[in-house]
Amino acid sequence: MTSTGTHTAPHVPVLVNEVIAALAIHSGDLCVDGTFGAGGYTRAMLAAGAGRVIGFDRDPDAIEQGRSLVPDSRLTLVEERFSQMDRLLAERGIGTVDAIALDIGVSSMQLDRSDRGFSFQADAPLDMRMSQSGMTAAEFLNEADEAEIVRVLRDYGEEPRARAIARAIVAARPVERTGQLAAIVRRAAGFRPGQKSDPATRTFQAIRIHLNAELDELQEGLEAAERALKPGGRLAVVTFHSLEDRIVKRFFRERSGGSPAGSRHRPELADPKRPSFERVAKPVAPTERELAANPRSRSAKLRSAVRTSASAWEGRLQ
Ligand SMILES: C[S@@+](CC[C@H](N)C(=O)[O-])C[C@H]1O[C@@H](n2cnc3c(N)ncnc32)[C@H](O)[C@@H]1O
Repeated sequence: MTSTGTHTAPHVPVLVNEVIAALAIHSGDLCVDGTFGAGGYTRAMLAAGAGRVIGFDRDPDAIEQGRSLVPDSRLTLVEERFSQMDRLLAERGIGTVDAIALDIGVSSMQLDRSDRGFSFQADAPLDMRMSQSGMTAAEFLNEADEAEIVRVLRDYGEEPRARAIARAIVAARPVERTGQLAAIVRRAAGFRPGQKSDPATRTFQAIRIHLNAELDELQEGLEAAERALKPGGRLAVVTFHSLEDRIVKRFFRERSGGSPAGSRHRPELADPKRPSFERVAKPVAPTERELAANPRSRSAKLRSAVRTSASAWEGRLQ
């Protein structure tokens, strides 16, 4: 523990063996780790024989610690969002790559550092910004309309008591600390100590997803990966809740199925698309053993597929 209450537990990579199996890395492959974090996937990619790994993370702390966490000359670290990966690779003279992994969400390092404000396990300023720039959670909660807070809690936290919680937040302004927010949410949602799920978890998740535009990043990251992969290249994506998994599932379903038939609402597409992904694997969940060793893997799900030689699609169909 440091003076800020920081707990330095390492991030235990989730589903790492399954991800490496899905990426089917050959000796010398050029790989992208879109969410470097503590470098768990990067280390495994290098151990599997990758010739070079480009590791992206939007968090300056992850990039700063990355070099000492993975001291390997085959690693290039880039402090950026994975949604920009194809452009950033091109800027570095890289055309297409063999394998890409995305491990969506926050790292244990981010959760455990109380001063980042992602967790209510310790009291700290409400921050929650992955990139450490832009609007903080406190600024959002103190400036947003009540209706906007309701929308965020519903859309990104699937919170049934969104109205009551948003009203309580607005009444308690200014809201500045994680402990204060957790107490407001629990009171508004009628939480009793000992109750199984703490409603503060859903509110914290919702605000974090909103502030960091995580669902848009995921959709755009999948599209960037589609553009960055060579034919035969592999994409593996690990998600932690149903909102994220739905996006990945739908992306692979669309991209592996070709153009859907036209309908009354969606006339036949003039330019039918060929599948850009194939061999979409069944979703993979952690084994009992991993769950016992790493409870944070609880809701993790891996989806993967192989890039075809078809052109990348442009954005979502609808
Ligand atoms: C779950 S952790 C990854 C852990 C990593 N696989 C490991 O084994 O150490 C997710 C990481 O992705 C980063 N991240 C989240 N969204 C991002 C984005 N859109 N672009 C780049 N990095 C992102 C977070 O800052 C965090 O460090």
